[in-house]
Formats: sequence, structure tokens, C-alpha cells
Amino acid sequence: MISSKTKLCVGIGDPIKQSIGPIVYNKAYEQLGVADEFVYLSFLIKADDIGDFIKGARAMGLRGITCTMPHKEIVMPHLDKIDEHAKKIGAVNTVVNDNGILTGYNTDWIGAVKPLENVTELKGKKVAVIGAGGAAKAFVYGLTNEGCDVTIYNRTVEKAKSLAEQFNCKYSSLDEQSEIKNADIVCNATSVGFVGQDAEMPIDPENLSPNQIVFDAVYSPLKTELLKYAESIGAKTVYGSEMYLYQGFEQIRLYTGHEAPEEAMRSFVMELINAK
Ligand code: ATR
Repeated sequence: MISSKTKLCVGIGDPIKQSIGPIVYNKAYEQLGVADEFVYLSFLIKADDIGDFIKGARAMGLRGITCTMPHKEIVMPHLDKIDEHAKKIGAVNTVVNDNGILTGYNTDWIGAVKPLENVTELKGKKVAVIGAGGAAKAFVYGLTNEGCDVTIYNRTVEKAKSLAEQFNCKYSSLDEQSEIKNADIVCNATSVGFVGQDAEMPIDPENLSPNQIVFDAVYSPLKTELLKYAESIGAKTVYGSEMYLYQGFEQIRLYTGHEAPEEAMRSFVMELINAK
């Protein structure tokens, strides 16, 4: 039962209507038995309004804020503290309000690392990250931290170069991608494969091989063309839903202080994506 003691967590972005956050997080609160303590809603907040929004969040005593595009970087100057990982990445996707002190965290890199750790040892692995945007940043930060040998491949090579300089790794234009074949792990961090572009693959499938692990950050559809192809040649695959889930497990922990109900959230998210 929602009461005057219930704390509000929100997801903000522009656009936001595609977000599955309210459905998934309220379900998780229910599973944890804390649905009377926490409720989750989402709001469309324009980039120009982020300062006003944070003032409002302070005044209302919001418990947590999940930041998606375009807020991950521009929210930072409005917060009181930034956690070490978020500082190094230069982006915040989670804000926690502890008695009026707003701290920014980044859980996206956890979503990049944990699903891979579930299937392989990471240290020393050769990784190809495709893309150089926000999702790529989470992969590159997380995987270089774990001791992987990362190369960034991007359509716009200047963006690959600047990300590679930030995290001290290698880069290449997507036009020269034959080296991907020698990678142990291939991560798609572009939007290619997402609903609307779901007939496409971000790389030439000839550059995939059966002994690789292929991780696609795209989670809708659940099984992208890239993953379908990877599975057809016997490569191990990691679905984008795992990235979404692991960044979310950590957010739930930060907001509620409880470990997320992982299995229940996983089956719920898979069902939700499949129904889309
Ligand atoms: P996100 O935050 O989801 O990572 P983003 O920051 O807009 O989104 O980054 C999108 C990434 O997908 C970029 O690396 C982009 O390449 P460019 O830097 O060249 O724009 C990549 N991308 C999008 N559409 C693409 C396509 N059709 N082919 C190759 N790369 C594409």
C-alpha cells in the first residue's frame, strides 16, 4: 500500500516513453516485499530543464533517479558527490538521495562486465568493441579495468580515437575490421540491430568465428541478427537484456538497500521484451 512514507524513484530521459523501467522496477519492489516503501515512475525531462528538475528532486526528497539520454553527462554539475567510477567514465546513470545529499553513480559498466564474467575469465582477453557512444564507453571502461586488451571500432573514426585516448586502448575505423576475427570477445555497442534496424548487423559476419563470445548491447529484439548468426556458427552469445538487468540490479541495490530479485527480474524482462 502506497502511503506518505513511500519513497519515489524516477527514470528521466528524452525520449522516455520507450522505457520499461516503471514496469520492471515496481515489479522488483513487489518481489522484494518493499512496494509500500518504494514506487518508481518515469518522466520526460528536456535537457534544458535538468537543473530545475534536480532542484525539484531535492525539494520533493526523491530517493533515486535513473538518468538516460540526454542526461547522463549534463546532470553531473548539479549533484553533491560523484562516485569514483562515474567520475572516470564521465557519466552518471544513477542518482541516490541520502538525506538531501545527491550522489551520482554509474552502473552501466557493471552491466557490461558482469554478464561476460558469468561466461568467461576476462583478464588478458582480446575484445572488439563496436561503437563509440555511451554504451561503448561502459564496455571500454569496464573491460579495460578488468585487464582486457580492447580495440574500439567505429563508423566515425574520430569518435573511436577520442574514446580510445580517454581509456588508453586501441581503435580502428569500422571499414578496417578484419582484425575482429582474432578477438576473443565481440561487443556490439552500436544501435544497429535495434527494432527499426533489426535486419542489419553492425559488422561483416565473416569476421565472427565459432570460438568467440558475442555480446550485443541491443536488447530489443532479444535475439538480434548478430546473435542469431553467432549462434548459427556455434559462438557463445550474451544477450543485451543481461546488460540491462545487471545495471538495474545494482540500481535496485542502491535505491532500496536490498539485493535485486535477479531470477524474477530476468524472466519478467525477457517476457516483456518478447511481448513487444
Ligand atoms: P548510445 O548512447 O546508445 O551508445 P550513441 O551515443 O548515439 O548511443 O552511439 C551510437 C553508436 O552507434 C555510435 O558509435 C554510432 O556510430 P557513429 O559514431 O559513427 O555515429 C553507432 N551507429 C549508429 N548507427 C550506425 C550504423 N548504421 N552503422 C554503424 N554504426 C552506427
